[in-house]
Amino acid sequence: MEPPVLDLKHVRKVYKGKVEALQGIALQVPPGSVFGLLGPNGAGKSTLVKILTTIIRATECEGEMLGQPIGHKPSLQKVGYLPEHARFPDYLTGRQVVEYSAGMAGFTVRQASSRVEALLELVGMRDWAQRKVRTYSKGMKQRVGIAQALVNDPKLLFLDEPTDGVDPEGRREIREIVKRMREEGCTVFINTHLLSELEQVADRVAILAKGALVREGDLEELTKSKEEYEIVLASPLSDELVYKLETLSAVVANGHILFKGGDPKQLQPVIDFLRHHEVVIQSIQRNRLSLEELFLEVVEQSRNEEPT
Ligand SMILES: Nc1ncnc2c1ncn2[C@@H]1O[C@H](COP(=O)(O)OP(=O)(O)OP(=O)(O)O)[C@@H](O)[C@H]1O
Ligand SMILES: [Mg+2]
Repeated sequence: MEPPVLDLKHVRKVYKGKVEALQGIALQVPPGSVFGLLGPNGAGKSTLVKILTTIIRATECEGEMLGQPIGHKPSLQKVGYLPEHARFPDYLTGRQVVEYSAGMAGFTVRQASSRVEALLELVGMRDWAQRKVRTYSKGMKQRVGIAQALVNDPKLLFLDEPTDGVDPEGRREIREIVKRMREEGCTVFINTHLLSELEQVADRVAILAKGALVREGDLEELTKSKEEYEIVLASPLSDELVYKLETLSAVVANGHILFKGGDPKQLQPVIDFLRHHEVVIQSIQRNRLSLEELFLEVVEQSRNEEPT
């Protein structure tokens, strides 16, 4: 197996004024994946990304990025970064913003030219590239921001709140760009509190709350343990049937039967039982805990576990 793109053992940050923004983070990001770092405002998401891109210094830092210790400047040539609330001079055109980044990345004007065009195309901004940033919507600005983050053809791309303030259409476009980057072998690390966005694109997620990782894992696995079947009946059940169903570990509420777990085999006795008693089933649906619910649950848990 290929080594992780990011292998953090211990990252701690105490800001002046003694705010402990990161309490000693350890996490791994596999290559070619989309990794989502979730957390409420102030959790420490941006702090972590700023440390990894050497914008700020960690208080303690042990770990590797692209096979090199964190802070190793040459490996940043293979890293792209869209900071949160990124702003570009609004008198520049979209093309000029990307050209400027290409220049900073060391491309000559000639080399930059085809690269810039390809990137504007990738983010769907070619038709708007001659217009000034001041005429752009929030979604367009973010797309130009992603294009400038990609000038150096990064192996690892950090997007800090890429869809913040972007409308649904723009969010979908950004998701499509992220998927395309993954197809090209780029690892994408996204900071967000917009859980529904991540749900559709992330392979792995970690949840950060008050500077500590409270959960990490494969998105499927994290939400699988929380599956349930919901059976809707055409008419209410008799008390006797309710009682018997409860012995089959089903929960009956308001004409709905809830059955914990996502294993269809275990559901069959419940269906057999209902059909045997000629109960009419209107629908059966498998519900999975959404990332939003998972997020609220773990953040709540971590709050409850805090010493008082
Ligand atoms: N320069 C700074 N000086 C002091 N404290 C800071 C500084 N930057 C951030 N903090 C504090 O560190 C904590 C983590 O902030 P950070 O910006 O990393 O969170 P975040 O998860 O990115 O939040 P958001 O979702 O609002 O972007 C917060 O308590 C914040 O107030
Ligand atoms: Mg932030």
